[in-house]
Amino acid sequence: MCGIFAYLNYLTPKSRHEVLDLLVNGLKRLEYRGYDSTGVAIDSPENKDIVMVKRCGKVKVLEDAINEGFSGKEYDAPVMTHVGIAHTRWATHGIPCETNSHPQRSDEGNSFVVVHNGIVTNYKDVKTFLEKRGYVFESDTDTEVIAKLVYHLWKKHPGYSFRELVEQVIQQLEGAFAIAIKSKHFPGECVASRRGSPLLVGIKTKTRLSTDHIPILYGKDDKSPQTCEKEHRPHGQTRELPVLPRIESASEFMPLEEKEVEYFFASDASAVIEHTNRVIYLEDDDVAAVRDGTLSIHRLKKCQDDPHAREITTLKMEIQQIMKGNYDYFMLKEIFEQPESVVNTMRGRVRFDSNTVVLGGIKEFIPEIKRCRRLMLIGCGTSYHSAVATRQLLEELTELPVMVELASDFLDRNTPIFRDDVCFFISQSGETADSLMALRYCKQRGALIVGITNTVGSSICRESHCGVHINAGPEIGVASTKAYTSQFISLVMFALVMSEDRLSLQQRRLEIIQALSKLPDQIREVLKLDKQVQELAKDLFHHKSLLIMGRGYNFATCLEGALKVKELTYMHSEGIMAGELKHGPLALIDDRMPVLMIVLRDPVYVKCINALQQVTSRKGCPIIVCEEGDEETKSFSSRSLEIPRTVDCLQGILTVIPMQLLSYHIAVLRGCDVDCPRNLAKSVTVE
Ligand code: G6P
Repeated sequence: MCGIFAYLNYLTPKSRHEVLDLLVNGLKRLEYRGYDSTGVAIDSPENKDIVMVKRCGKVKVLEDAINEGFSGKEYDAPVMTHVGIAHTRWATHGIPCETNSHPQRSDEGNSFVVVHNGIVTNYKDVKTFLEKRGYVFESDTDTEVIAKLVYHLWKKHPGYSFRELVEQVIQQLEGAFAIAIKSKHFPGECVASRRGSPLLVGIKTKTRLSTDHIPILYGKDDKSPQTCEKEHRPHGQTRELPVLPRIESASEFMPLEEKEVEYFFASDASAVIEHTNRVIYLEDDDVAAVRDGTLSIHRLKKCQDDPHAREITTLKMEIQQIMKGNYDYFMLKEIFEQPESVVNTMRGRVRFDSNTVVLGGIKEFIPEIKRCRRLMLIGCGTSYHSAVATRQLLEELTELPVMVELASDFLDRNTPIFRDDVCFFISQSGETADSLMALRYCKQRGALIVGITNTVGSSICRESHCGVHINAGPEIGVASTKAYTSQFISLVMFALVMSEDRLSLQQRRLEIIQALSKLPDQIREVLKLDKQVQELAKDLFHHKSLLIMGRGYNFATCLEGALKVKELTYMHSEGIMAGELKHGPLALIDDRMPVLMIVLRDPVYVKCINALQQVTSRKGCPIIVCEEGDEETKSFSSRSLEIPRTVDCLQGILTVIPMQLLSYHIAVLRGCDVDCPRNLAKSVTVE
């Protein structure tokens, strides 16, 4: 998904080379989000113009182009104040190419340049409006309308400040966006805004920051907008293009005023953490403007309960957490981090000495949750699979109906939601558009919203009534691994909390809590299978397809394993519910079809053995994932992986790890880009 990185240095001398390095480095930190082209814009050293470099492909290609193109001495001269903006684009409107890459510009003179994440759904209307006034568009993007509309308004209202112009523009935009804008007419200024797509501002000062919050400046409600011109809409309709109220001057407030300061605008914290840990998460419709080194945050009007200030948050993340270390890929690092990440998820929550579980983020809501009509677990991709994985345990320990939903399908169906429903939104990034839309849908209908996310300050996190941070640490590889196991554990912990006063369930709870304490070591054991899994990958990587079968607690592992294989290796893979074998998939089985079967000694063991026999009697030669020392099950095949025994409802955590490793090794053998698979994005902020 697109990534924004902008950098403003005020009274902090930096050469253009340093600025460019900073921008490129910022983009590298955002690479994991998935993208297909890149670009930067800085001030030209020769005149007051803005220069841009845009490239198709990886950030490295952009970096090489910058090194070649900006080699003069003038790029080494320090500049006291400067604004640079940069972008990684994930194509939505128009193919990946240089013209469609961002920054997008207002005119040939680069008066205003914009980087944008999201989709402007009414861009065609705005484009028609502008074309009628003589603007000629060069790209196929929706973003170009933003640059041209600011320019248009600037020409019409020369007295407006940069921030006021952007405020006018965002009122005309529909859809989702995060934007950062730079202009040659407003040197040293940067204006950014968001609606639906994440954006934060990092602040770096030499001395301790003078404040912990930035006051919000609200426009006055009482002035009704004056109209300026008619916007021509399709089908002969017209709509007024309003000039909106100008926001009162900042003098009565104390915005952030620092003498020497650097600001970073970024789509997520991983791009700024090496510079500063002090950030402000912008909310929808915030307009953040920096002028003369002063940051102010504006909103057009104040609604009831709106806060007076945005808090400056201190990030807990460490730079090492987002570095690859000795691993070749972030994904591999993240797979191997799981013994620690699961501990972090449980830290301070599961007390192994007293066998108790406390989830501070939802504690107060537990009585309300216990009274609910049903639990709904909603997510996309891997996050959805964590819901599938824990559904059975939730049903058992809460004795409530549990619905598991894909966010997109849930919305398509206009699913009925009631005030006494409790809706869980599971999302690693906390920004997935479908999940966020589903959250708002449920919230409007009065349901209690519980967020299960890995990203502090994310939209899902902020918009939930309560929630659980899974604390897996930053996940950079596009394919989710450690976030899955931490989501899984978070939901298990929730089930344990819900059942703490149920006498009949005490033995079961105890068994699960004790199993949780052994999990980190057991994960370490499973990771030792890496070499064995690599050998299996050598057998599989030239095949076209891989079927992964299982049932009960392990069905989610089949779905998640198949998703990992698809995402990373571009091979066809399917997670098959073994109970459905006779109803279709059996037709696929012969001596050439690669099959992997999960057969553990749990309540569905006999049924799994049945399925195994059905496969082997049709000449299938499955790879079997079974429990350590289970010779009987192993005897069905020459290839097997043995995993330690744990309680049935936690097996999925141990069985998914070989799938993660297998997809990783197949991807490496097939020469695929493990951390950034083609066509995929880490954080899908468009529907
Ligand atoms: C994208 C990613 C998947 C992820 C899904 C949901 O499709 O490629 O790996 O599972 O989004 O993301 P979330 O951040 O909501 O967990």
